Amino acid sequence: MAYETLIVEIEDEIALIRLNRPEALNALNAKLMSELTAVLAAADANDKVRCIILTGSDKAFAAGADIKEMAERSFVDVFGGDFFAPEAEALLRVRKPMIAAVAGYALGGGCELAMICDFIIAADTAKFGQPEINLGVVAGLGGTQRLTRFVGKSKSMDMHLTGRNMDAAEAERCGLVSRVVPAKDLISEARKSAAKIAGKSALTVMAVKEAVNRSYETTLREGLLFERRLFHALFATEDQKEGMAAFLEKRTAQFRDR
Ligand code: HXC
Repeated sequence: MAYETLIVEIEDEIALIRLNRPEALNALNAKLMSELTAVLAAADANDKVRCIILTGSDKAFAAGADIKEMAERSFVDVFGGDFFAPEAEALLRVRKPMIAAVAGYALGGGCELAMICDFIIAADTAKFGQPEINLGVVAGLGGTQRLTRFVGKSKSMDMHLTGRNMDAAEAERCGLVSRVVPAKDLISEARKSAAKIAGKSALTVMAVKEAVNRSYETTLREGLLFERRLFHALFATEDQKEGMAAFLEKRTAQFRDR
């Protein structure tokens, strides 16, 4: 299917979704957000997809929500229409793993979109920032909450209050991204990670995603109990038997998602 704002390729059980509004550095407008949520829901439902990579261009992952589209909106428009809330909720419903492969600018909603993904691989050209303060607003797609949990209060405040960008090295140091790779290798490295994930049991992958995400939403005690019960529950799967048998027989496990 052809999209106006995205390029989508499904190959080797990996869906590569590329944001594609080069004229606006992939700014997130209503069309892009609606196409993105539809594509992600379709990828989540597609048996041929086991991992999703979300990326942009060399110059920008996404330079934020579309300022041209937002500039003249009123409080009634954005509050009444719950601006980007259904889209944000839809992104959180995706159960398959999503890797953000970020080169260039990931600012405002772009940084927030990357943080909604399960982990971020950054090109050495990546620049992250929450510059909403320069526009007279605050972040609206989770920036004040997620960035603070990921990098701590001091750096999050610094980023949100000054509106400065951080480079890839700083993003790796503070734990915003899982690793930094040369820009030319960004997609191949993301594909390598996605291929590794695609080789696991889809049940276990979903369990990992649920358990790690739980750590942001509950107390340590509840999170530990949730994790322990998931661990116990996976003993009901054939993939647990296969994974452990394969280890003991010194062979590669053949998971069947059962
Ligand atoms: C609309 C944008 C845009 C944006 C860039 N463009 N960012 N259009 N919305 N967020 C457009 C420019 O207007 C320009 O189009 C073209 O993309 C190229 O951008 P330039 O500014 O000419 O490029 P450059 O000089 O290289 O500067 C790159 C940049 C700058 C530093 C990334 O574009 C920038 O500061 N962009 C805005 C970043 C930002 O404030 N993001 C937060 C948005 S608020 P024309 O037609 O003029 O050539 C947000 C809130 C999310 O994200 C909450 C949602 C609920």
